[in-house]
Amino acid sequence: MFFQVKSYFSFIFKATTKYGVHSPFVYNLITNCFDGKIKKEDKTILRKYTNDLSKDNKWINVDDFGAGSRVFKSNKRKVKDIYNNAGISTKNASLLIRLIQYFNAKNILEIGTSLGVGTLSLSLGNKNTSITTLEGCQETQTVAQNYLNKFSRKNINFVLGNFDETLKPLLDVQYDLIYFDGNHQKEPTIQYFEQCLETIHNKSVFIFDDIHWSKGMNEAWDYIKNHKKVTLTIDTFYWGIVFFREEQFEKEHFVLKV
Ligand SMILES: C[S@@+](CC[C@H](N)C(=O)[O-])C[C@H]1O[C@@H](n2cnc3c(N)ncnc32)[C@H](O)[C@@H]1O
Repeated sequence: MFFQVKSYFSFIFKATTKYGVHSPFVYNLITNCFDGKIKKEDKTILRKYTNDLSKDNKWINVDDFGAGSRVFKSNKRKVKDIYNNAGISTKNASLLIRLIQYFNAKNILEIGTSLGVGTLSLSLGNKNTSITTLEGCQETQTVAQNYLNKFSRKNINFVLGNFDETLKPLLDVQYDLIYFDGNHQKEPTIQYFEQCLETIHNKSVFIFDDIHWSKGMNEAWDYIKNHKKVTLTIDTFYWGIVFFREEQFEKEHFVLKV
């Protein structure tokens, strides 16, 4: 917790707004995507999905993968408690929808399904998406599958198992966008990043969640920013957004309040 507070103050100190940005690519991204709004019908679906989760009293057995939980003591958890303590915020879910629209991302990979709020957002962003989403916990995945079916989301490929085994066989296609939102630890984050580099094209976008969650995640973010294939990054505190555009001659890193 102390680490996060310290990181937040450091973020606030460095963060700028669109008025401090000189890159036309980033300025346009802020103006036309970050500052935009999602459609009313998408907002309604997102609100209904998250409302239903927040009232879901069903108990499930959770296999704790990755960095584990700082909140739960037991593996038997109510769906509503999982929703209230983990997963994407409504603000970031809306931003995810806008990013998918802005970049017209179609082939998408999500590493960490949980209850499917991120998956829903990815699918709302573009009606023609093909989404592959990875989850290690069987009962959590079943909840996400049931909800996403109930909300009539199509073209979602659910993959069950430890990312350490499930990720590699999925990397023989090019992804327009990869959302890294599971196993928030330094070494696995770097490992998944390195593996996913095989799949990039010039316009691919990687989004890393919780880049300042811990010292290890901060170090993973530094590693990613400094990688030779990465040409531009945006730090929004909760997310690290990564681009590989070759037309970006000089590497640039932005710290932005969004
Ligand atoms: C933060 S949650 C994902 C949140 C989701 N993307 C959203 O937007 O609501 C991370 C999920 O990744 C899963 N996970 C973490 N480490 C994993 C691993 N090594 N293999 C498989 N699943 C893992 C956890 O079970 C958890 O459900």
